Amino acid sequence: MRTVEVIRTIAAVREWHRAAGDVGLVPTMGALHGGHRGLAERAAREGTAIASIFVNPTQFGPNEDYRTYPRAESADLELLAAAGCAAVFVPTVEEMYPPGDDTRVVPGDVASRLEGAARPGHFAGVCTVVAKLFGIVRPARAYFSHKDFQQLRVIQTMVRDLAMGIRVVPFEIVREPDGLARSSRNAYLTPDERRRAVALSRGLFAARDEWARGTRDAARLRATVRVVASDAGTPEYVSVADPVTLREIDGHAERAVVSLACRVGRARLIDNVLLGMSLEELARL
Ligand code: PAJ
Repeated sequence: MRTVEVIRTIAAVREWHRAAGDVGLVPTMGALHGGHRGLAERAAREGTAIASIFVNPTQFGPNEDYRTYPRAESADLELLAAAGCAAVFVPTVEEMYPPGDDTRVVPGDVASRLEGAARPGHFAGVCTVVAKLFGIVRPARAYFSHKDFQQLRVIQTMVRDLAMGIRVVPFEIVREPDGLARSSRNAYLTPDERRRAVALSRGLFAARDEWARGTRDAARLRATVRVVASDAGTPEYVSVADPVTLREIDGHAERAVVSLACRVGRARLIDNVLLGMSLEELARL
């Protein structure tokens, strides 16, 4: 059976890194599922892989689910070992934010819309913890899925703007057989909510089908998503945005990220489809 080395302190990661050489980092908040497994397997295929598990308090708003976010360390360690990760960094909150901690990485325009507008301060928390993980692990590559599309763009932008010299590798969205995007927060859904939640991905797929038939009008794509997704609830937003800037598209779209956020019961779910642009093109930004 494969095992994964569990590292709990910054000093021990630095020590591990000296022997490991070039590494790929997979940052996570744990409660791992098939999406995380896909990311970890990709990282392990491309070299020595280290994951991190840290439920980062600074990216949660005061009325969000920090306290109740699912935690499942032993199952997570098994999944990461099976995926081929060599090590996993599992720090405490005190290790990451010791007394006197006083610095935040604040992203700009690309973080201002969509999730950034719905969750004030969220991306500053994400950038701060990811920058810190990069400083601790010093990876050559870091793996992020476009499940969190705006997060991926915010991190790509941070890495470029701060000349961090890390290759950000965009990864696909792993879905349940019926299409629902895998998410640690799916654990909050009751059986009935779970059945309804599939309408979110159906709405996005309906827009993708329309795109394939030649529709390029952003308003029409938004309307299609809204109609089909309404079986899950009323989305907080349905967006057809430029995949580079995340600005809403008015009229004709050459390429687009179609995304939504919707509360289904206790869970706030997000999902998206990328149209007219490949992950390889996204990787080159
Ligand atoms: P978390 O939500 O645990 O996600 C960790 C990584 O897994 C992210 O890159 C996310 O996009 C990816 N992921 C989530 N669902 C996925 C799916 N269905 N298919 C493929 N990949 C999926 O994102 C975070 O944690 C945090 O914000 C973090 C970056 C770790 C900073 O705290």
